[in-house]
Amino acid sequence: MNNVLPDTAREVAGRLTVGGVDLVDLAEEVGTPTIVLDRATFESRAKAFASVVDAGRVFYACKALCCVAVCEMADALGLSLDVCTGGELATALAAGVPPEKLLFHGNNKSEEELSVARDAGVARVVIDSFDEIDRLEKLRVDARFLVRVTPGVEAHTHEFIQTGQEDSKFGFTLAEDVALEALRRAAALSRGELAGVHAHIGSQIFEMAAYDLAVRRLAELLRKARDAFGFEAREVNLGGGLGIAYTEDELTPDPAESVARVADAVQREFTALDLKVPELLVEPGRSLIGSAGVTIYRVGTVKRIPGVRTYVSVDGGMSDNIRPALYGARYEAFLANRMGASEGPRVTVAGKHCESGDVLIRDVRLPEDVGPGDLLCVPATGGYTYSMASNYNRIPRPPVVLVEDGKATTIIERETSDDLLRLDRRLDGSAL
Ligand code: LLP
Repeated sequence: MNNVLPDTAREVAGRLTVGGVDLVDLAEEVGTPTIVLDRATFESRAKAFASVVDAGRVFYACKALCCVAVCEMADALGLSLDVCTGGELATALAAGVPPEKLLFHGNNKSEEELSVARDAGVARVVIDSFDEIDRLEKLRVDARFLVRVTPGVEAHTHEFIQTGQEDSKFGFTLAEDVALEALRRAAALSRGELAGVHAHIGSQIFEMAAYDLAVRRLAELLRKARDAFGFEAREVNLGGGLGIAYTEDELTPDPAESVARVADAVQREFTALDLKVPELLVEPGRSLIGSAGVTIYRVGTVKRIPGVRTYVSVDGGMSDNIRPALYGARYEAFLANRMGASEGPRVTVAGKHCESGDVLIRDVRLPEDVGPGDLLCVPATGGYTYSMASNYNRIPRPPVVLVEDGKATTIIERETSDDLLRLDRRLDGSAL
């Protein structure tokens, strides 16, 4: 189980502690469900990335978990930040992240978002469409631009595919020199500077060869751009995507080794085409924050259907973690209050939503006598859980609690029904 838990997770007298905080006590104090975030794990992952590329060229993709404290934490480590909406931008700015450290993504940035970014002095904008190039000209945005390219390489988890004809809403295709044309037009913007190219080839990737191929395609494009109109890239951004272990049969790849491999590929492929080797930027999200988080739930009911299966229902579900329902994502679980207890037969962990698909884990071994009051821990929930949370069935979103050296700090408060009702209006339009 250690492969999926935060670095500081320990078993103390049969109970789980993370960051020196006893999660059984924490659950009593702050209630459940709660997302617990281990600061040490986030920091160690950040330092691993920063041991290969300068911290300032590691852009935490805050879509994985975006809140003021996490942005502050990334900033304190010297990381830069990738934001992809006005909301993420506002959060980064509220956290005091200097605009020089911000990079703005998005396939459909509005004029309003671009104006806010311009006025705030956001340093980098990743250009995603021809419409956006027009918008940047119109709004007189003065930034460092990167052109997003779909390199025809798609990677997810343990395999990658080469797609000749890319089908993606992101970026510019290499086909028919579309990306080349985008570079030409971006270079001709009257303000700002075209700094280079960007590619993000997928998420939860274990197959590093996919990055090699993407780098080669980018180098080929840049060779064409140099030959056609003398453009030389100063920066190449390979996005995020490094995988983490979610289940016992997976291993989290070492971020430093993985990024070193990408850096080698950039060195090799650009040199081979007689191009100046650009600076490497990366945008890790999941691999920074994913393994830092666990979610604790309280078991409420256990339903045994003879000869079929046993449902163990917890007090959260698809509203705090949509990934199993949306992607068929797999997770582990165990009882944080009875760590030593021997495992019984397989059960299904379900949430409390009015939907049969609200299943967090299809098959997991829990102690045979699992019952109401037990505290269930689901590891590897630091990324893409809270950030994708909803209020389905009017369930308030859980809090996020940062743990470090025996101290627990709530960095996102638990939502309440009042928070949800605050936006409601009566039929006559009046507030409640
Ligand atoms: N850069 C760009 C341009 C991205 O689109 C993404 C993620 C990242 C960086 C960070 O990727 P990461 O290092 O976290 O893999 N909701 C999905 C993941 C979607 C990823 C979207 N883009 C999930 O829960 O698995």
